Amino acid sequence: MDRRITIIGAGNVGATVAHEIARHDLAKEVVIVDVKEGTAEGKALDMWQTSSILNFDSRVVGVTNDYLRTRNSSVIVITAGIPRKPGMSRDDLIKTNAVIVKEVTEKAVKYSPDAIIIVVSNPLDVMTYAAYLAANKAPNKVFGMAGVLDTGRYKAFLAEALNVSPKDIHALLLGSHGDTMVPLKRYTSVSGIPVTDLLGDDVLDKIIERTRKGGGELVNLMGTSAWYAPGAAVASMVDAIVHDQHRVFPVCAYVDGEYGLNDIYLGVPCIIGKNGVERIITLNLDEAEKKLLIDSAKSVKETMVVLDEMKLF
Ligand code: LAC
Repeated sequence: MDRRITIIGAGNVGATVAHEIARHDLAKEVVIVDVKEGTAEGKALDMWQTSSILNFDSRVVGVTNDYLRTRNSSVIVITAGIPRKPGMSRDDLIKTNAVIVKEVTEKAVKYSPDAIIIVVSNPLDVMTYAAYLAANKAPNKVFGMAGVLDTGRYKAFLAEALNVSPKDIHALLLGSHGDTMVPLKRYTSVSGIPVTDLLGDDVLDKIIERTRKGGGELVNLMGTSAWYAPGAAVASMVDAIVHDQHRVFPVCAYVDGEYGLNDIYLGVPCIIGKNGVERIITLNLDEAEKKLLIDSAKSVKETMVVLDEMKLF
């Protein structure tokens, strides 16, 4: 197994993704790239020194802007960009991060034309679209991580409210990685038991609202955005790809026709395997759910205008 996986950006999220991938031996080599001299090198060295303690073999390598070193990667994870600060929405990042995402995607794809690209930079839905345009690849090979993180938060809150294992909670979430995300009560269960049999609407609605604002809650606590759950979420998607698991995850995927939506990156349930998005699953949404999804798509389209006006592509 000579698999190489590249993580672009050695910030908190990038470093956590790299360590999760390495400690689960998902690649022979994990390459971390950053723009700041020494940062990726230092974090990679620190991680590699956990190998004998945590029992993994993946070599972790850090480089400064050296994309040649990333050549022939099978998966590239883009975390580059500035994170949110308190008081900022994810959309406030668009102008800065679109330029960064475009540049790093073009450089990385040049050396790894066959790679699957997972985008984590915010605002996620629009940045995934930017990476898709920059990569010039089939859309099933370019998608974003948000739904696994957002459902992770939703499940954690539900596990606490119900005092049950988070492992037994199954849930689905649609729409943008923003305040208009759509956690679906009707598709939430505890070992097959509909959550609506176990929790009243008032409690569930509070949990859904907390999930929507879950990223912001952490930004307010820490002064910057989260990394443990985002890192673990990306690693589970990488695992699904490299082991062709056909996991069913909510993913920020290219939607063109499904759900009556066109030419947009948005969170939808997908089957994830060695080809990336193997298939988008179309649900029979009721009218209220449909409306929430369409409102969420509208808010993404509004931020897409900012990207279009930048005329980067
Ligand atoms: C969050 C960031 C990663 O939701 O968007 O924490």
